[in-house]
Amino acid sequence: MIDGKFPENFLWGTATAAHQVEGGNHGNDWWAWEQVPGHIKNNDRSDPACDQYERFRTDFDLLRSLHQNAHRLSLEWSRIEPAPGQFSATALAHYRDVLQALRDRGLEPMVTLHHFTNPSWIVAAGGWEAAGTAEHFASFAERVTDELAGLARIWITINEPTVVAYQGYVRGEWPPGKRDLGAALRVVATLIRGHWLAYERIKHRHPELQVGLAHHLRIFDPFRWFAPQDRAVAAAFTRVFNETMLRSLREGRLVFPLRHSNARGPRDSQDFIGLNYYTRELVRFNHRYRAELFGQRMQVEPTPRSDLAWELYPEGLYRTLMGLRREQLPIYVTENGIADRDDALRPEYVLTHVKAMLRAIQAGAPVRGYMHWTCFDNFEWAEGYSAKFGLIACDPVTQERRVRPSGRLYAEICRRNEVPATVELPPAAQPPVEPGDPTDRR
Ligand code: FCB
Repeated sequence: MIDGKFPENFLWGTATAAHQVEGGNHGNDWWAWEQVPGHIKNNDRSDPACDQYERFRTDFDLLRSLHQNAHRLSLEWSRIEPAPGQFSATALAHYRDVLQALRDRGLEPMVTLHHFTNPSWIVAAGGWEAAGTAEHFASFAERVTDELAGLARIWITINEPTVVAYQGYVRGEWPPGKRDLGAALRVVATLIRGHWLAYERIKHRHPELQVGLAHHLRIFDPFRWFAPQDRAVAAAFTRVFNETMLRSLREGRLVFPLRHSNARGPRDSQDFIGLNYYTRELVRFNHRYRAELFGQRMQVEPTPRSDLAWELYPEGLYRTLMGLRREQLPIYVTENGIADRDDALRPEYVLTHVKAMLRAIQAGAPVRGYMHWTCFDNFEWAEGYSAKFGLIACDPVTQERRVRPSGRLYAEICRRNEVPATVELPPAAQPPVEPGDPTDRR
């Protein structure tokens, strides 16, 4: 059994996205999408979510009481820039208060500038299919960092560009609901350009900031390890989903399969790697899956799975971190978590993934922090409130917060800065925390 300390000053926290927790975001594409019956499970809507636009102070008190020392959050572009070039002083002041509230509690902020949502005016101008969106985004990034640079050191330009393109333009399950591979490739290209421009402008004005991007990386393994076609498909998935983005940012050019592009950007445009890791997928060659690179995703039973049927595969975190050593950059795990309504598997998920991370660190992976996804159950995009990822249960109707056993286990890891050799969880039955009342000091 691995038993050991994490490096000094390791960041331990949780991650959120504005639209998933704030409530009241009515000026973006997701809100419009939520109004159409059938788009979101149970026709849930993101308002009020966790009502965190109002409750951030008491919520941060609770995170602090659980011994976290960092917090990842995103700023809602549609609040800050409700019309092109018009910046809202109220929204900027709000986020200044939010970041200051984190600092006051000893929680190091990690700020994401784009986490899936787009202002309605960006959508009207063609969204990320339109080349000009990269410039709009960079101007937004510049303005925001000019205002808030003094309050946060670590900045993430864009969350999961490949997921944006895949869900919105290949599967069509997220806005804008297209199924068009050509559009998806254009979108990835513009997202990368948006990152390049934002990176250059931020670093030019604030060289002291650490700027990166949050990559969603999965392990793709062949369904039948002995079948050459399955291995070829798994390798192709790895190249397209995991490596294209990293290589493009390293080399300063778009290295797309299936598409030639002359677009150029700065080399080495990441100061760190943000890694979102959840699970692995087994892929099998199937000639009918043309639009998905001939790869059919398979499940093997029996395997422990989350409520969304994602495999629990902690070894994948180890493998991914070890692979990322070649980038020679500091790494933050910017998301890692499980949908588990009953908290039946989450304690084990937390423990095994944190151990896998420690093994990777001991083998030389430069990991500097871990943000669990997520603190409070929240609006999980197309899954609505049905998928519960929180270390802390949060009822969107009563706004009651209740720390789950996994939340107490995670608090123990954060407090000790090590993986406990034996785990003794405090008794499960806990009185609920009153809405907005952080008196829970477990
Ligand atoms: C990630 C997203 C995050 C959340 C988790 C479960 O892909 O970045 O917003 O939806 O998955």
